[in-house]
Amino acid sequence: MVIEGGQELTGIIKISGAKNSAVALIPAAILSDSEVTIDNVPNISDTDALVDILKLLKCDVNLQDNMMVIDNSHMENTLIPEEYSNKLRASYYFMGALLGKYKKAEIYFPGGCNIGKRPINLHLKGFEELGAKIEIDGNKYTIVADELKGANIYLDIASCGATVNLMLAAVKAKGVTKIKNAAKEPEIVNVATLLNNMGAKIYGAGTSEITIYGVDILGKAKVEVIPDRIEAGTYMIIGALLGNNLVINDIIKEHNEALYSKLKDMGVDIQITNNCAIINKTDNLKPVNIRSLVFPGFVTDLGQPMQVLLTQANGESVFEETIFENRMSHIPYLQKMGADMELTCQTVKIKGKSYLTGTNVEATDLRAGAAMVVAGLIAKGTTEVFKIEHILRGYDNIVEKLNSVGANIKIVEE
Ligand code: EPU
Repeated sequence: MVIEGGQELTGIIKISGAKNSAVALIPAAILSDSEVTIDNVPNISDTDALVDILKLLKCDVNLQDNMMVIDNSHMENTLIPEEYSNKLRASYYFMGALLGKYKKAEIYFPGGCNIGKRPINLHLKGFEELGAKIEIDGNKYTIVADELKGANIYLDIASCGATVNLMLAAVKAKGVTKIKNAAKEPEIVNVATLLNNMGAKIYGAGTSEITIYGVDILGKAKVEVIPDRIEAGTYMIIGALLGNNLVINDIIKEHNEALYSKLKDMGVDIQITNNCAIINKTDNLKPVNIRSLVFPGFVTDLGQPMQVLLTQANGESVFEETIFENRMSHIPYLQKMGADMELTCQTVKIKGKSYLTGTNVEATDLRAGAAMVVAGLIAKGTTEVFKIEHILRGYDNIVEKLNSVGANIKIVEE
């Protein structure tokens, strides 16, 4: 990706469906015995990888204009090989969904961004509490149950992935399941909405205790993917650096409160209504301290792009990453561009204001890639971002969206 920095951005950017919802809704859809329609599906390579898995399972998939129709009438439960599972993290939702539907899942360990150890022990422990037996052979997981029975499951960590996976496994279990210390992210509510639309009985999604009354049959349903709060946040950060009445449309205001609070503390000129934000480039930004937290705290996924904004504040800011062990691989590249950043464990001190200069950098993971795009847009000269496949996994039409408001970005095949 070749970025010519320094262009003012004006116009409207429309936010797409949320990656982290869509990648859970698609595997959740297989729990239905008939047809599921998912609207507002983002055009990203992570959803393509899930469609490949659906096809492997003999589901009929029709995707047109962001509307995905999945017909499970001819579905078959088969092993999901490693070359399918390791394309993305969310392949692990087929564990819960296949276990819930067939009481058997055979799948290899998931892939995804290299941002820490990312174990799945809480998913597996929860499956066992529901009555499943797990055999692990290298990277291959065979999860089988004679019968799934409702259970009280306490999550040591309020994990998004484990919360969703356990909802999927428990939705058809006999009796009542309670997930305590559940994750509260909006994407979890979106998945519960789809399951309830199919006929499930899930209460409390979006709170730290989710109650699931098992049902026998799940049927035809429709759901809309919620707007992507991370994509929206990334463009708001870009707007704070380069916007001239940049409008970010189709957002859900309540999903990014922690970000607005920090932008306001920094002095950013941002106005937010129910479904849109208008942002202007702001001079004399103030430094702030931020710690990533579970929802509704400051989301870890915006940490890396946010740190680019902090390089432009006058003074010292501190960003502490508390969710993942290794989400700082973007820092050497920002330093190469001229940022003054000092990393100790997962805490980075950022001294601004720095003047960034374009150079060759890498998208070491999805949000690191977003940080490189933000940095490239404000840098003097040309920035070339390599390994952009990570960015395309999670940002729908990023080049087209940014160019439509005045950026100068192109993708060059190597
Ligand atoms: N954890 C465990 N054991 C488990 C599960 C999680 O120790 O069994 C730990 C993780 O290692 C991590 C913490 O708990 O340190 C939180 O992990 P969580 O399960 O909440 O994250 P995830 O489900 O793997 C999802 C998103 C991430 C997002 C996080 C936090 C998907 C596919 N991924 O990951 O998205 O950062 O929740 O909100 O939904 C991204 O979009 O860039 C991304 C990485």
